[in-house]
Amino acid sequence: MNLLRRVVDAFEERTGLLKLMGDLARHPVPPDTGWWYVFGSATAVAFIVQIVTGIALSTAYISSSGDAYQALQFITTRALMGNVLRGMHFFGASAMVLLVGIHAIQVFLMGCYKYPREFNWITGVVLLFLTLAMGFTGQLLRWDQTAVWSIVVGAEQAARMPVIGGMLAHFMLAGKTLGAATLSRFFAFHVFFIPALIFAVLGIHLYLVLHDGISEPPVAGKPVDPATYHASYDKLIKERGVPFWPDAAWRDVVFAVAVIAAIVILAVVFGPPKLSKPPNPSLLARDPSPDWYLLWYYALLALIPHKMTTPTILLAPLVAIIVLILVPIVSNKGERHPRNRPWAVGAVIVILMMIGTLWAEAIHEPWSPAFEAKPLPAVLVGASQGPVADGARLFYDKGCEFCHRISGHGGRRGPDLTYVGDRLTKDDLTIRIMNGGYNMPAYSGNLSPGDLEDLVIFLRSRRRAPASVAAVNSELTNGGQAAVRKDFRVAPVRASR
Ligand code: HEC
Repeated sequence: MNLLRRVVDAFEERTGLLKLMGDLARHPVPPDTGWWYVFGSATAVAFIVQIVTGIALSTAYISSSGDAYQALQFITTRALMGNVLRGMHFFGASAMVLLVGIHAIQVFLMGCYKYPREFNWITGVVLLFLTLAMGFTGQLLRWDQTAVWSIVVGAEQAARMPVIGGMLAHFMLAGKTLGAATLSRFFAFHVFFIPALIFAVLGIHLYLVLHDGISEPPVAGKPVDPATYHASYDKLIKERGVPFWPDAAWRDVVFAVAVIAAIVILAVVFGPPKLSKPPNPSLLARDPSPDWYLLWYYALLALIPHKMTTPTILLAPLVAIIVLILVPIVSNKGERHPRNRPWAVGAVIVILMMIGTLWAEAIHEPWSPAFEAKPLPAVLVGASQGPVADGARLFYDKGCEFCHRISGHGGRRGPDLTYVGDRLTKDDLTIRIMNGGYNMPAYSGNLSPGDLEDLVIFLRSRRRAPASVAAVNSELTNGGQAAVRKDFRVAPVRASR
């Protein structure tokens, strides 16, 4: 005991670290900071969870396109604690995004970004986007189909930027196409570059928290005036300040423990996201489904009209960053309490509602193929054999139904085809199927002439009014190429819904 004491004393005499840490822990902070102030430290704790689990995962991960998928499967199924670690890394990421978001909203609503903490808000904005960048780059390391296609879509979007788009996409993919080099690049960004930036910016962020002091809880009717702020803050600290530890920090500790517990429990109960199939560039379904915290942004891109996509991709993130950085520059004094800042509260509500709506849309994924679609029931097809029935089967087998709805069955990625027979001629249909379209793969080379014919006959039979056999038959012969099938009988199509 005595020896230990002497070692500690000798260490302290030479470094002064214990005193420094004690001073930091006990430095006076404003009273009554309350539970709203726990989200910043909780974000940092989630970041530490990410570092620890990330390092553990990296010991078994292989960042090569040939091995990454197997490495992930090994981690998930065989490595010691691998499944839980992957789960913790996933839910830790979710927690970090969620907490950094709440922290930003809290700081905004309470006006904590005002004088003299403007610069710290800006470092916070940088940290927010670095956190999202971690999520984006981390997803690719899963190297399964969904992850890979999310990045391809990201790169395609980047490529649309004027002037620098091509360069940017090339930089992201580390080449013209997604491949082995892309994975190495994302790995380097995810484990070295972005974390290093986060460490640096977080260091500044925390230094500034100490330098400027924790903001006092806002009081309605007591605006910030840069000329008098320091004097009144110093007075508050001197008269009513409480030691950071334990008076204020106990809440941080309680909340941090709860966050870690939640991450562990979710990881154990739900596990990491299931790996989808290994990436297969020849696969038709190229629909990305990024992790939830980026999903709403993809929903935005999928839902806006095609023409608007490019400006949105370009402008939305840029506008978001600029607006966020401008916040403290435009208004660094005045009222802090949300009660007297209706515009600030309104802005937060509108933004949250927008993200929430997009997110709800994203969960239904109307733009994403419905891979779970079942073959059309015979009553809807209207025939149990012959070309219409064959066409209906092909409609399912060839994946058309994943994207197209008929009488309430199937996906919503493409137009509803319940009454397509009223709308499109045989030639229209043939051209469309062979050539594909925006977001529809071309099927030439993937369908035999007989299959194509059956499909077209089936689609032509999708009408409001029952199609007469004679009408469809004559149309087929008029087209020249298609032979009339003797067994062709079109049962009345039920005009459903
Ligand atoms: C990956 C999703 C996807 C798959 C799979 C798919 N389509 Fe499409 N399809 C679309 C989209 C999206 C459009 C709209 C294209 C556009 O606006 O240019 C479309 C358009 C069409 C149209 C034109 C509809 C209209 O009202 O203008 C037809 C007909 C069609 N598809 C038939 C098929 C058939 C038959 C198959 C299967 C052989 C198929 N599609 C497979 C997504 C898909």
